[in-house]
Amino acid sequence: MRRDFPVLQQQVYGKPLVYLDNAATSQAPQAVIDAMNRFYLEYRSNVHRGVYHLSERATEAYEGTRVKVRKFLNVASDREIVFTRGATESINLVAHSYGRKFLREGDEIVISHMEHHSNIVPWQLVCGMTGAVLKVIPINDRGELIWEEFEKLLGPKTRFVSIVHVSNSLGTINPVKRIIDRAHEIGAKVLLDGAQAVSHMRVDAQKLDCDFFAFSGHKLFGATGTGVLYGKSELLNAMPPYQGGGDMIKLVTFEKTTWNDLPLKFEAGTPNIAGFIGLGAAIDYLEELDFEAAIRHERELLVYGTKVLSTIPRLKLIGTAENKTGIFSFVLENIHPHDVATILDREGIAIRAGHHCTQPVMQRFNIPATSRASLAFYNTKEEIDALARGIYKVLEIFK
Ligand SMILES: Cc1ncc(COP(=O)(O)O)c(C=O)c1O
Repeated sequence: MRRDFPVLQQQVYGKPLVYLDNAATSQAPQAVIDAMNRFYLEYRSNVHRGVYHLSERATEAYEGTRVKVRKFLNVASDREIVFTRGATESINLVAHSYGRKFLREGDEIVISHMEHHSNIVPWQLVCGMTGAVLKVIPINDRGELIWEEFEKLLGPKTRFVSIVHVSNSLGTINPVKRIIDRAHEIGAKVLLDGAQAVSHMRVDAQKLDCDFFAFSGHKLFGATGTGVLYGKSELLNAMPPYQGGGDMIKLVTFEKTTWNDLPLKFEAGTPNIAGFIGLGAAIDYLEELDFEAAIRHERELLVYGTKVLSTIPRLKLIGTAENKTGIFSFVLENIHPHDVATILDREGIAIRAGHHCTQPVMQRFNIPATSRASLAFYNTKEEIDALARGIYKVLEIFK
């Protein structure tokens, strides 16, 4: 299976590449690259417009991905799957389209202290435009939401809860079903930021009963510049377009324009056609691979990695939630994370250092940054051992 990923076959500084930055972007298997190449080699053309063979083929492949995503998320209708540029655009779409239409002054939007900036800033923008107010669920020292505090925030003014499914800087898996049910009890709508969830677990949007779900293709072994927004059709139907342009309209005159049906109402302009064809291939790949087995393997790596890293002196894991995915965020006493990442890079080990677009998480733990190693199913125990050896080297240099 590892051989399916061309990027992983290389050496960096004469060492085998150990790629542990999957939370930022995961690698694409050959099947995804082939599918995208085929588009460019054989039938590059625009979608939804042409009546000729190439365009019909492109449209079929592009729309084929919508069906695959619909099944992947177990959603009722293809019309509820909107293609965007990424999780960020999906969240912005909801914040701006739903938020500006349905939120009023004094309404409350609940997010959490562990959100990615993509699930903070769009809501701040909408609050600025509407007079709605942002409320933040605090987290505990393990990096888990504090349920009682969430309960306290909920009230008659709560209109919207926008919450990360899995934290990208802590690995925490949030109790999203419970959050959704509780929010619905008081009549609030819920968006899940699923950017870190889809590649690590089965997501069943209908079972969860979330109102919106956002993710990015490049974190699911597909292309950058592709994203998905799932939304319940009654909500998407009630929302105004987010952007205007080609394909999102039925009829345009200078006096009046009528919108296209779902989901095209939200897909203005030419999309990343090759990218979405690649996303379809990525989903096919995961299903053929036995996604459940891949998840189990990753789970074993998480347990193994936690054990190995916990024995390293001067290392502190940030994010030790009981229920978490394969993300190891850590600080080494008196050593800056950038130094850690730079030294590991020379060992061929790619990890991330920084605030991971979650500055409030860093503020909560009173640290400037963390080093973060994040897993995908193609990682191995040997790579975790290499990471540990690399960290010991860092400790030796900064003795
Ligand atoms: C939890 C979370 N939300 C949102 C995003 C934004 O994703 P993208 O940059 O692909 O739009 C990320 C990416 O790191 C993320 O981890």
